[in-house]
Amino acid sequence: MAHSVSSHLKLRVAEYDELIRRLVPAYPAMRPVQLELLALALPEGGGRVLDLGGGTGALAAAIAERFPAAEIEIWDTDPEMLGTARERCAAFGDRVRYVQRSFTDPLPPCDAVAACIALHHVKDLSVKAGIYRNIFAALRPGGIFVNADTAVCAGPVLRDHAFELWARSMAPHGIDRPQALTHFASWAHEDFYPPLITELGMLASAGFVEPECFWREAAAVVFGAVR
Ligand SMILES: C[S@@+](CC[C@H](N)C(=O)[O-])C[C@H]1O[C@@H](n2cnc3c(N)ncnc32)[C@H](O)[C@@H]1O
Repeated sequence: MAHSVSSHLKLRVAEYDELIRRLVPAYPAMRPVQLELLALALPEGGGRVLDLGGGTGALAAAIAERFPAAEIEIWDTDPEMLGTARERCAAFGDRVRYVQRSFTDPLPPCDAVAACIALHHVKDLSVKAGIYRNIFAALRPGGIFVNADTAVCAGPVLRDHAFELWARSMAPHGIDRPQALTHFASWAHEDFYPPLITELGMLASAGFVEPECFWREAAAVVFGAVR
């Protein structure tokens, strides 16, 4: 029984990883960018990273592998996602912790905060501004926030262009343009991709002195700031 549950979870990890790369083809390119930036803030002997909306633990596992002394807390409200993350990250023992809590809650002290395609679930900008204030408060001076997500201009020309490029990037993964547009319309019910300038402005308002875009490709973006 335990074995079959375990196999099932492994299958879910594999399925999730495959699906996310088809829907967000920029996903794998964002990871090394995030890891390089986390290296700026993580001391050799450890460090504590919060992974907000960590889902199945893909980012947490990559962080745990790259920084063998770091501790990572995955915050996610979905117990099933956390269960899958637990399976994926089992090899890292108690260096990875699983916290069933909303990333809108106050955060514990840490060296770095990371998120990957999770904070776009926040549709209300005032709530997102509160999250950024909480991140600022949790980070030690010199700590870093690195968010890999989606940012789209509000003006129609650049907005349409970004979605067009995103749709085009899905084609080699078997998702044609009408299917891509259907996905975008459906995700719009749950997701919100504020323009990058809005994101950076909210980080500045939260107290970060030099918010920065570290990488971008069409709608996909890695941005954040050093406290
Ligand atoms: C698309 S998944 C991304 C998972 C993972 N970061 C990755 O890169 O594969 C978004 C995750 O955010 C989580 N989430 C959504 N709203 C949340 C909230 N308010 N607090 C914590 N997690 C949340 C969802 O449960 C889901 O696991």
